[in-house]
Amino acid sequence: MKHLLTALLGLLFGMSAPLVVAQTSPPTPTAKRTSFKPGELWYDTDGNLINAHGGGLLLVGDAYYWYGEKRAQHQEEGVNVYSSKDLYNWKYEAVALTPATEAQSDIAAGCLMERPKVVYNQKTKQYVMWFHLELKGQGYKAARAGVAVADKPTGPFRYVSSFRPNGNMSRDMGLFVDDDGAAYHIYSSRENYDLRLARLSADYLTPTTQDSLLFAKHREAPALFKQGGKYYLITSGCTGWAPNEASLHVADKLFGPWQLLGDPLTGPNAKLTYGGQSTYVLPLAGKKDAFIFMADRWNPKDLKDSRYLWLPVQFRAGQPTIDWIEQWDLKYFSKQL
Ligand code: DGJ
Repeated sequence: MKHLLTALLGLLFGMSAPLVVAQTSPPTPTAKRTSFKPGELWYDTDGNLINAHGGGLLLVGDAYYWYGEKRAQHQEEGVNVYSSKDLYNWKYEAVALTPATEAQSDIAAGCLMERPKVVYNQKTKQYVMWFHLELKGQGYKAARAGVAVADKPTGPFRYVSSFRPNGNMSRDMGLFVDDDGAAYHIYSSRENYDLRLARLSADYLTPTTQDSLLFAKHREAPALFKQGGKYYLITSGCTGWAPNEASLHVADKLFGPWQLLGDPLTGPNAKLTYGGQSTYVLPLAGKKDAFIFMADRWNPKDLKDSRYLWLPVQFRAGQPTIDWIEQWDLKYFSKQL
């Protein structure tokens, strides 16, 4: 009877029920973001979940572009690109690289394009994408690197070629452009036991023969960055989609020797990289020594539903360290430095 009366009053005054909904409903997906919440649902400005896994960022003018694997539940659907000026709110731009419809293409639909990274070549004025390519129907056997180019950061990227760099297997990978404009491909090789580095040709489209073993410690997911004249490298172990412990290496020169510093993460769940796996370290534009560590918290049952962990890199006693922070924003770097 009491419920009936409440409902009638609600109907008459049209307010009690909507008020309750407004108080308990979560923020709408399109609400403007002003902070990072690692591991939480992250929507683009259209209100769709961001689908850009194993990704990397590129700064062009005052805009960042985020490239990553476009995943269905399991299948790869190409490389997505998003743009943002504040790093919190991302606009969906396009499928930057689309799998080919021709069955004989290396990137025929059903292939895997993993860990895409894009750099800009000043000389050719081209955006160059490298990715880990696995041929359709062959699982992870092909172990190749793929290259594509575009005239604009949003693409469309045109597929150029794929190969095993200097004959070496190539799976998880990253790109790094040094201060002198020379670019490098860092890649897991020999069934992921070796981590190798190859300097790229001047147009960034092919590896040169300056290609050597950095170390053979069965590592993948390389994320390379430079600070204070030193090169740092974060990698993961090799446990498929399951998280494992990250490690940090340092070197004075890109080709080494590389010295192990240990696990850069701290606190609970650090031993499992907070449930994630490294993909990229972003140097923040206009801020000295400010870097964001990016990782994927994979969901192998539904890969598109994997989460992103973005956390600030701190330099404690001169050494890169990553703490778990529930929520943070870019003001963090002003407080730190
Ligand atoms: C780990 C790699 O880092 C991922 O990119 C992906 O290739 C999975 N292995 C597949 O199991």
